[in-house]
Amino acid sequence: MSKIIDGKKLSKEILQQVAVEVTELTERGGIAPCLAVVLVGEDPASQLYVRNKIRCCNEAGIRSVEHRLSSDVSQPELNALVDELNNDATVQGILVQLPLPGHLDESAIIEAINPSKDVDGFHLLNVGLLSTGQPGLVPCTPTGCMIMLEKVLGDLSGKHAVVIGRSNIVGKPMAALLLQASCTVTIVHSRTRDIAALCRQADIVVAAVGQPGLVKADWIKPGAAVIDVGINAIEVTEADGSVVRKLVGDVDFAAVEPVAGYITPVPGGVGPMTIACLMKNTLSAARAQSTTVQ
Ligand code: GUN
Repeated sequence: MSKIIDGKKLSKEILQQVAVEVTELTERGGIAPCLAVVLVGEDPASQLYVRNKIRCCNEAGIRSVEHRLSSDVSQPELNALVDELNNDATVQGILVQLPLPGHLDESAIIEAINPSKDVDGFHLLNVGLLSTGQPGLVPCTPTGCMIMLEKVLGDLSGKHAVVIGRSNIVGKPMAALLLQASCTVTIVHSRTRDIAALCRQADIVVAAVGQPGLVKADWIKPGAAVIDVGINAIEVTEADGSVVRKLVGDVDFAAVEPVAGYITPVPGGVGPMTIACLMKNTLSAARAQSTTVQ
């Protein structure tokens, strides 16, 4: 098995499997899943993410509807749209692309989404279910990381995992999933003393801080699995003096790859897996909302 974990290939397999299960669900009389994606404003990165999500819906046989709102939309207007989607029986999943413009209350919007349609797994109810080990909708990026880790390592029980970053979207749910898989989990963050020494003890390192090339070769125990969640756009000066924009992760890939046992690339690692897991969540939500069949 190659040491580079190919998230693009694995995500294609998941999308194909979701498409098969969508057909099975609808043939048994269940609801054909539909994902509503809400994009506020013109942020280029968010626009790209939303385009990719809609494209993957098509590949997975999931219907999608896109709602684009201007960056000056008010909180009541956005709430009204979320309410409308909550009450729309033809919509099984709702995703409000983050970050939202500063004048909007992100937490309030997330809590306004019906938890059974919360395919991001960000609603407090789903966060509580995850942290107590009960079934619910689980955030997509950490789910994608777990699928990749279990694919290459099998049972994770007893392994020491270090999660770099404590965000609600990745770091905290990632730690919860690793703990559920019986790992010993350390979360490190900007105030942690000697992050490098803690990482060197880890069998698994998950980097999710948004700092290009933060994780160096001497942070990694030889043979450890390294999962790079970072997607950072940087400008690089080429030999001919031209400046090009590149996507890089939180891991110094060229330096770490020879030391690691397994490593995810950026792009083509965690990114496509996140979207594939969004399709899995939309299918799960449709299944749960299909009262006659499961
Ligand atoms: N912005 C960056 N990642 C995500 C995500 O996973 N979900 C949503 N809704 N917004 C994001």
